[in-house]
Amino acid sequence: MLKDKTILLGITGGIAAYKSAELARLLIKEGAAVQVVMTANAEAFITPLTMRTLTGRPVYSSLFNPSYGSATVHIDLAREPDMVVVAPATANFLGKIASGIADDLLSTVLLAVDLQVRPVILAPSMNTAMFHNPAVRDNIKLLRQRGYIFADPLAGVLACGDVGEGRMVEPGQLLLLIKDKLSARADYSGLTVLVTAGPTREPLDPVRFFSNHSSGRMGYALARAARERGARVLLISGPTALEPPPGVDFYPVESAREMYALVMDKFSLADVIIKTAAVADYRPEETYAQKIKKSGDLSIRLVRNPDILQELGSRKGTRFLVGFAAETENLQDNAHKKLAAKNLDLIVANDLTREGAGFAQETNKVSLLYRDGRVEELPLMTKYELAHLILGRIRGLMVDI
Ligand code: CTP
Repeated sequence: MLKDKTILLGITGGIAAYKSAELARLLIKEGAAVQVVMTANAEAFITPLTMRTLTGRPVYSSLFNPSYGSATVHIDLAREPDMVVVAPATANFLGKIASGIADDLLSTVLLAVDLQVRPVILAPSMNTAMFHNPAVRDNIKLLRQRGYIFADPLAGVLACGDVGEGRMVEPGQLLLLIKDKLSARADYSGLTVLVTAGPTREPLDPVRFFSNHSSGRMGYALARAARERGARVLLISGPTALEPPPGVDFYPVESAREMYALVMDKFSLADVIIKTAAVADYRPEETYAQKIKKSGDLSIRLVRNPDILQELGSRKGTRFLVGFAAETENLQDNAHKKLAAKNLDLIVANDLTREGAGFAQETNKVSLLYRDGRVEELPLMTKYELAHLILGRIRGLMVDI
């Protein structure tokens, strides 16, 4: 199962370090090559000789050891593995990587690992009070946002006799997580996906704007799913209440014109462009510098915004272009017209009148309309499930291009 895979196993100084010996043994039994890097404190708990004997490879622990041969051993170690696992990861170690500190070999390797290319699993192990300390909570939150994967510690009796969360997961469970993450579909690796999401805001004066009900959920689900399948993801989003998914390049914008400028700047990098954003078709002709004071009735003249999708359709070349169509009537007719008029490869048609579909919901019910006239009606599903399904269909069609 793990044949031809190389795992870099980082061990830091916690009592759970003894479990890493078992983890190394399990990984090797599955056919993986295991490269161990230990911190100086880890060596107080388990000897390099144990790990060297189990893995059949030299154990690295120093930044400056002439016997390693290479002067840039930290870079070599960061580039070799398919995955990095730090088990146990102490509170101190999490703090160091959260703040970019590289003061020993393992923290330096971690800083040099490209998270876009290889996953990093962290298995924290510490006393409950330390685990719940706000500094540690913040570090874990930040690291998750940056795309690190956590093997959450278990509750139980800890080495110090305290009972609570903080016990490192068992090696068998960690092995399952490692296998799971390594076997995740990687059908987008090497590809760049640009996703636009959310509403736009069209300012009228310093306190007012025109906008719509888009929550951004569909676009964020697509960005997350594409990242999980190995893509580099550029997410250009209007204002939403959502956290950007881990590991994506995030570009916040406000107005349709800002979104237009950024999309035009970035689209040439992308192989696939998915436009879920609910772009305002109109904006106030004039944006007032001062707040408009009330006095009688008021007319506001609206002018057309640029149609981003239309423009992309004319410039797309061989890129795969996906549009969304939100309709309240004549769904298929209107969606077909948009697909043809905007030179799309696929359009996801959303009937806003259907139960479970549309804005601010966790679920969606859509039809996929293809260039060749085919229509695929999909059942109600979560936006995350739908995101994976859409990405699967796109990938299938790209093979034909
Ligand atoms: N879109 C865009 N730029 C705009 C308006 C829409 O890129 N100024 C994109 C949306 O991101 C979506 C698709 O066009 O992928 C369809 O949006 P929708 O509002 O359903 O359709 P419109 O093309 O604006 O047509 P209409 O308003 O007439 O329904």
